[in-house]
Amino acid sequence: MRKSLWAVAICLAVFAFAGNSFAGNYWDNWTKGKAQGPMPDCGVNVLPLGGDQILQDTVDIYCGVKPGSYKSWINPKVMKIYKRKGKHYPDGKTGVLVFKTIGVVFTTDHKDGKPVYDVLTIADEKSVASSEPGHPLNPNTCKVCHETHGGTCKGFVCGNRML
Ligand code: HEC
Repeated sequence: MRKSLWAVAICLAVFAFAGNSFAGNYWDNWTKGKAQGPMPDCGVNVLPLGGDQILQDTVDIYCGVKPGSYKSWINPKVMKIYKRKGKHYPDGKTGVLVFKTIGVVFTTDHKDGKPVYDVLTIADEKSVASSEPGHPLNPNTCKVCHETHGGTCKGFVCGNRML
């Protein structure tokens, strides 16, 4: 009897551990970036509030899904480049923008000097990016904004413009 109780206890512990192993995200120990704040409701003009045009465009595109507030995290390995608004990032993971309320994260990586954008669920880091043209979660939509606006975003990273 006692032995089987132990067996049950060990099984429960193993399950608890396995369940928890998904709780961590790759950006958990990264450095906080400049980009953070509440996503204002649709129709809010952020320009008089100190926002700039790229932020206004971001609000206009994403307010509809009510994504709640967001926070950015930058890979400590590239923090030096981020701080000096460098244009060249090494291959690898660069930064994330976490929308906790809706459980998704926008990710920017670099490969051969080019940015790679994606949208992942926080729960299991699976891509929920869209392939529909013009969709707010289509990586091409990310690209158009991050790479226009007169070079506002340095190295395809936008939060560093406020440093
Ligand atoms: C209309 C413009 C626009 C679009 C579209 C857009 N972003 Fe951004 N992105 C921004 C701005 C502006 C910031 C900084 C926010 C702030 O200043 O608070 C930002 C921040 C980020 C960050 C945090 C790191 C950084 O660059 O500072 C990531 C990661 C990111 N975006 C990825 C994406 C991905 C992935 C998509 C597409 C699913 C996307 N973005 C779509 C404008 C945009």
